Amino acid sequence: MSSNHEIPSYLTPHGLGPWGNYLEQIDRVTPYLGSLARWVETLKRPKRILIVDVPIERDNGTIAHFEGYRVQHNLSRGPGKGGVRFHQDVTLSEVMALSAWMTVKNAAVNVPYGGAKGGIRVDPKTLSKGELMRMTRRYTSEINIIIGPNKDIPAPDVNTNEQTMAWMMDTYSMNQGSTATGVVTGKPVSLGGSLGRRDATGRGVYVIGCEAASKRGMQIHGARIAVQGFGNVGGVAARLFAEAGARIVAVQDHATTVVHEGGLNIEKLLAHVAANGSVEGFEGADCFIERDQFWGVDCDIMIPAALEQQITSANASQIKAKIILEGANGPTTPAADDILHDMGVLVVPDVIANAGGVTVSYFEWVQDFSSFFWHEDEINERLTRIMREAFAAVWQVGQDNKVSLRTAAFIVACTRVLQAREVRGLYP
Ligand SMILES: NC(=O)c1ccc[n+]([C@@H]2O[C@H](COP(=O)([O-])OP(=O)(O)OC[C@H]3O[C@@H](n4cnc5c(N)ncnc54)[C@H](O)[C@@H]3O)[C@@H](O)[C@H]2O)c1
Repeated sequence: MSSNHEIPSYLTPHGLGPWGNYLEQIDRVTPYLGSLARWVETLKRPKRILIVDVPIERDNGTIAHFEGYRVQHNLSRGPGKGGVRFHQDVTLSEVMALSAWMTVKNAAVNVPYGGAKGGIRVDPKTLSKGELMRMTRRYTSEINIIIGPNKDIPAPDVNTNEQTMAWMMDTYSMNQGSTATGVVTGKPVSLGGSLGRRDATGRGVYVIGCEAASKRGMQIHGARIAVQGFGNVGGVAARLFAEAGARIVAVQDHATTVVHEGGLNIEKLLAHVAANGSVEGFEGADCFIERDQFWGVDCDIMIPAALEQQITSANASQIKAKIILEGANGPTTPAADDILHDMGVLVVPDVIANAGGVTVSYFEWVQDFSSFFWHEDEINERLTRIMREAFAAVWQVGQDNKVSLRTAAFIVACTRVLQAREVRGLYP
């Protein structure tokens, strides 16, 4: 794959990771970009990468250093937008890919942002709350030079939440000398956050899932669903599907996989995770299965909502679902995409399926600028409309060009990004 691409000196050709998958996805869309294809190289290079050292004093008096990143992939259509991840496996390649998928996602749903992403290579479970706060504040200070309400607006991602955003907003505001609520989204509602933001990504997965199911003539009521990742995205999506009468037959998180043939009680499982940190030990399960067995669970819809590169050529052929809804970013490798396509599985790509979060983040940013806050019904209604319209447009492009929904979403998005690039012209 890498032979088609110039690999920057800061990555090794054999260690391209998720960035390599993203480059392959760009190769697949290039033949459909017409004359805009002459600008496609711009999508294969992040505009700006900031790598920072994040030192903190631990509670025991020792000094710890963490690797921190903020990558702005493309700013042609507006300020950068994308989450911040705290995870022990964060790498530059991963943050680059996640920032690029944000460029594509923001353009696919037509919110006026470029793509960005950040992360710290740390297992936050090993830190106390005080250590977590000091690390978040130091990281925010270090990336302060490139973020801002008109420059780049972070949001929550894996292992970050409303509290993280409140610390980031406070740190940025202290450095500026004035309160700047619009510098991050996903804040607590008491601090300029938006109603509906916490559930927005999972709600978007649900809305898109209903659209995809109707295209396949599938009823949500009674459908069997398996969910990987039971955090902000997977937990909310599971709850909404269960409320609509679906049976959540399996849930996998970082610790284990729970199965219940008749459908797990999602309210009880959410309460169990809130109290215990994982689904492990849940009493309302039929059984617990091995990690790899999750992919072969008998289900109609599968929702990967944990990390990238989960569905690979090694497990794709075991999948029984007819629809895959990508709640996570980049969960399916290009090789697995091909296998699933041949099996007739409808893969609804991340850049549409999980775009509900950034859509309500956009609403939050708009509300912060105008200091005028909307009702939750209004937010959910606008979210649902944007998601349905984006899905319908991508579906149509897929039909017209006889391509997968992923390539169709990339056609819509990359065309928008490169049109902006072309009409702005190259500086100087
Ligand atoms: N939070 C958002 O608004 C948002 C928006 C768009 C996309 N996403 C994407 O959704 C995914 C999940 O994000 P989140 O915000 O729900 O994170 P989260 O931290 O709230 O939850 C992550 C979940 O994944 C599980 N998990 C971690 N490692 C796992 C493994 N190896 N196998 C199985 N499960 C594992 C965790 O136990 C947890 O249940 C990520 O890919 C993220 O980039 C998040």
